[in-house]
Amino acid sequence: MALFKNLRPLIVGNWKMNGMGKDVLQLKSLVQKLSQDPSKGIKPEIMLCVPATLLSRMAEVTGIAGKTRVAIGGQDCHPNKNGAHTGDMSVAMLKDAGAKGVILGHSERRANHAETDKLVNAKADAVHQSGLMAIICVGETLKQRKAHETIKVVGKQMRGSLPRLLPKLLSARNTVIAYEPVWAIGTGLTPSLEQIAEVHTYIRKTLMRRYGEEGAKIRILYGGSVNPANAKQILAVSHVNGALVGGASLKAADFFKIIKAI
Ligand code: PGA
Repeated sequence: MALFKNLRPLIVGNWKMNGMGKDVLQLKSLVQKLSQDPSKGIKPEIMLCVPATLLSRMAEVTGIAGKTRVAIGGQDCHPNKNGAHTGDMSVAMLKDAGAKGVILGHSERRANHAETDKLVNAKADAVHQSGLMAIICVGETLKQRKAHETIKVVGKQMRGSLPRLLPKLLSARNTVIAYEPVWAIGTGLTPSLEQIAEVHTYIRKTLMRRYGEEGAKIRILYGGSVNPANAKQILAVSHVNGALVGGASLKAADFFKIIKAI
């Protein structure tokens, strides 16, 4: 168990299609709060995944060389390096704009853009090759949960979206899994702590079966209606190594409270 306890928590914000130039102020405020925080407790790693239009402006605030504790990330990428893909973005472009990681296979992309596990897998490969961090999302719909298919669905998504063997490039540094029940996203609903523990334990076992010791170190985030009021309880569940936060990451004050809940 000690092995798991040593994992440095990771809190990721997902701004989705929200945020204008003026909202860079939220990041400035977060950076300030963190730098003035006198507490000596565990310092989680922090990443804010913002719309592509804000990436370089946000990266300027955090410092390209990572001067602050907050890293900036993207919300999707194309698996190819470049080419005729109107409206898409390669990982190299995200990196060029200052991103340190990228969310892949979010349920909104799976549902709205028909993203398959195979496509998410190809994107993860591209991210690993570029040296960025891939935050791969999995999670069941309410219908699937009610039909007791949660573990089956999450298992299938993991098998399809993650590289089968440990390729040279995949490591616990550049791979993160986010368990996000679709029905909990933006709804204010969350699974019970037992339900979260069940899925996270399953994900941990799957990662270890697949990647051995490295799989024991890959962080597993919970996402779906995490807020300042429930973060402490959720983050204390076994095999929850951090959170992927949507709505509550838009305001620096709320996001800071979630970070402090560790
Ligand atoms: P939410 O979104 O925190 O607003 O529920 C989470 C997510 O979709 O990543």
